[in-house]
Amino acid sequence: MSRILIIHGPNLNMLGTREPEHYGTLTLDEINKQLSALAKELGVEVEIHQSNVEGEIVTLIQQTLGKFKAIVINPGAYTHTSVAIRDAVAAVGVPTVEVHLSNIYKREEFRHHSYIAPVAAGQVSGFGINSYLLGLRAASGLAK
Ligand code: DQA
Repeated sequence: MSRILIIHGPNLNMLGTREPEHYGTLTLDEINKQLSALAKELGVEVEIHQSNVEGEIVTLIQQTLGKFKAIVINPGAYTHTSVAIRDAVAAVGVPTVEVHLSNIYKREEFRHHSYIAPVAAGQVSGFGINSYLLGLRAASGLAK
């Protein structure tokens, strides 16, 4: 069974109460439950992590080599700042889907640029939890 790594970046542990006008009211646990249910349906195995620490996310990505067939990542604010996460994705060469709950292109200018997008297989942005669910579907298609 193909294994897919799902990474939630900084502040996503605060979902449910964090800026609901941008991120909705579902908690991270509720999102993870729906991701696990979809994984079962798609016949893939998911491992899910959340970290507020850039270096930990880099290490998680490095560890996918030989173990995971695809990555789904919401890099949170690191999307707009992290050359290190971008380099980790490029280094492992594991197909990666970037997801965002909010439409980053509709928000402040500093959110319009993603360091991750040029090394990702694709990006899903603006559909709330469906960004994750669509991202997982895309990742399972890439995880062959
Ligand atoms: C986010 C968008 C980012 O700009 C922001 O810093 C986040 C969440 C999203 O899921 O919409 O933390 O990645």
